[in-house]
Amino acid sequence: MASDAKPSGKAEDTPKAAQELESLRWIRERRSIREFTGEKIPDEHIELILEAARHAPSPENMLMMRFIVIRDDQETKEFLADIAQEMAQTAFGGAPFELTSGRNWFIADPYRAAVYARLRDGELFRYPEKSDTVIIVCASDSWHDAGYIYPNELFGSVVCGMAVQNMWLTATELGYGCGYEALVCSDPRHAQLIRDRLGIPPIWVPLTAFCIGQRVSARALGPSRAPLEGLMYDERWGKPYRRIAFRK
Ligand SMILES: Cc1cc2nc3c(=O)[nH]c(=O)nc-3n(C[C@H](O)[C@H](O)[C@H](O)COP(=O)(O)O)c2cc1C
Repeated sequence: MASDAKPSGKAEDTPKAAQELESLRWIRERRSIREFTGEKIPDEHIELILEAARHAPSPENMLMMRFIVIRDDQETKEFLADIAQEMAQTAFGGAPFELTSGRNWFIADPYRAAVYARLRDGELFRYPEKSDTVIIVCASDSWHDAGYIYPNELFGSVVCGMAVQNMWLTATELGYGCGYEALVCSDPRHAQLIRDRLGIPPIWVPLTAFCIGQRVSARALGPSRAPLEGLMYDERWGKPYRRIAFRK
């Protein structure tokens, strides 16, 4: 279609058919990876991943996101692994798996006991120690002095979430794995320890230790997602969206 032609609104006029979309391919292939080999990643690749973060959108382009990029400081990586494991034991340890069936609903019954044993032990969450790069992503809710106060706290998280997703997709395309280790910041006492250790000022809130590394194995399958009908409404809340294939 020539650039000045008027689009007809038909699917065949769209620039690319859906199955060709590169972005959707990487969105689908992205997975949470929690096992890394400990091998190094070339600096140039890490910089490409950081470059992706820089392009995240933000309100008024105020860029209320900061990233502490930890690569050489193995002691800090182990410190984060200790916190993550301790927090996992608290988060998953209190109740036997039978009582937590609403959580992690996507794990089928025959596997729940074994998966919960791993979650309770917390070993699974020690992955910062074997990551090549751990990025402490910080958001701020104090960025603007206008008379009208935006919902800043949420905005900061949204901006950081978009930056993380940019990094995650770029790392996936480069063949690396990433894990979003929110456990390290979930307890305010842990978050304070991280602040003190890394010198994070009070107006910045550490959200996650985002880990990037060489994967032990590519993980093709992750938890399934609800179908479009389960997440989208058609024009009004409660009226399920119906995908094109179901409309005829
Ligand atoms: C805000 C947020 C918090 C998360 N917290 C953790 C976490 O603390 N530790 C972890 O290993 N994964 C964490 N995850 C990853 C999710 O468990 C994972 O994205 C989800 O189960 C879907 O799996 P997938 O990423 O492989 O598609 C988090 C993800 C998000 C977006």
